[in-house]
Amino acid sequence: KQIQHLRHTIMQWQTQHGRHDLPWQQSPSAYSVHVSEIMLQQTQVSTVIPYFERWMQRFPSLDALASASEDDVMAQWQGLGYYSRARNLRKAAAHVIAEHGGEYPDCLQALQAIPGVGRYTAGAIRSFALQQYGPIVDGNVKRLYARLFGIDGEPNSSAFNRTLWQLAEQLTPHNASHIYSQGVLDLGATVCTKSQPKCSECPVQSECVAHATGRIEQLPNPKKK
Ligand code: ADE
Repeated sequence: KQIQHLRHTIMQWQTQHGRHDLPWQQSPSAYSVHVSEIMLQQTQVSTVIPYFERWMQRFPSLDALASASEDDVMAQWQGLGYYSRARNLRKAAAHVIAEHGGEYPDCLQALQAIPGVGRYTAGAIRSFALQQYGPIVDGNVKRLYARLFGIDGEPNSSAFNRTLWQLAEQLTPHNASHIYSQGVLDLGATVCTKSQPKCSECPVQSECVAHATGRIEQLPNPKKK
């Protein structure tokens, strides 16, 4: 079936061409995946790397983070911007300790009840740390799926988002979901880029609706101004 073929192709590409040496991929815990995914939400990988490494030295565990002062936490975030992310991380540490005895819950619903954790971060924690089924959709994944499946729609409208999450739920495998999830992130970030995508390097080029119909430039649809 097409879904299985796409899944397999993306996972094979990830194994051969995806990124494997990012610091948060080395023995990922729920906590380290949580920290890295929050940092990566509005910030590029190359900027995040030194912040992530300093953060994990300064606050190596949930307990270390929860017992740090807000000033100390904010100082470690200095320069990354969107400071509510850092305040929420500290609140999240207190939440996981108070509500779950310091162990991250593994169900998506309980993960999403953690301050600052939405559907994406919950899926990422499940995929990357718990190696369980955890669909993810971020900006890169949206662009990849919109092109691959030829999906029109106002970006960020609820109809568009619903369609993309449904695709992610169908495509994400129940086994080795971390390989698939890292694959779609890496394909979106390095091959299916916003401008000048490298279609000739894309493992799913022959499946891609946008490529077949010459609509790479139009998908995803531009945001209305
Ligand atoms: N962007 C968001 N999450 C990422 C991850 N886990 N690896 C690389 N880039 C990302």
